[in-house]
Amino acid sequence: AASTSYEAEASPAVCTGTIDADWSGYSGSGFCNGTNATGAYAQFTVNASAAGTATLAVRFANGTTTARPAGLAVNGSTVQTPAFEATGAWSTWTTKTLTVSLNAGVNTIRLTPTTAAGLPNIDSLNV
Ligand code: GCU
Repeated sequence: AASTSYEAEASPAVCTGTIDADWSGYSGSGFCNGTNATGAYAQFTVNASAAGTATLAVRFANGTTTARPAGLAVNGSTVQTPAFEATGAWSTWTTKTLTVSLNAGVNTIRLTPTTAAGLPNIDSLNV
């Protein structure tokens, strides 16, 4: 099936932080700059036409030299903790693909950083 792109800066997505546009290369009108703290998150509400395995593509930038791991929660359950590796610059965006199980219909996808460094900048989620 065709994939759909969900922007981190657009409702119903939630960004615990600020929506910024100061680093080029983002899609839409900006990106989520999550607060640099463990409790901050970026959340997407996505639709799946059928229950089953889906590929999530998270577009992000990490201009530091250290990975920023985050718990990936699907409908409230943390299913994996991907590392969001350094991308070399805040304006260098990379896509990380993650395989998850979704329900038919509406699903909530939340990325919550596991360290106080917080999230990388999050541009979008493609499902
Ligand atoms: C810099 C950068 C931000 C980024 C932040 C961070 O301030 O300009 O876009 O979010 O570092 O470390 O998270």
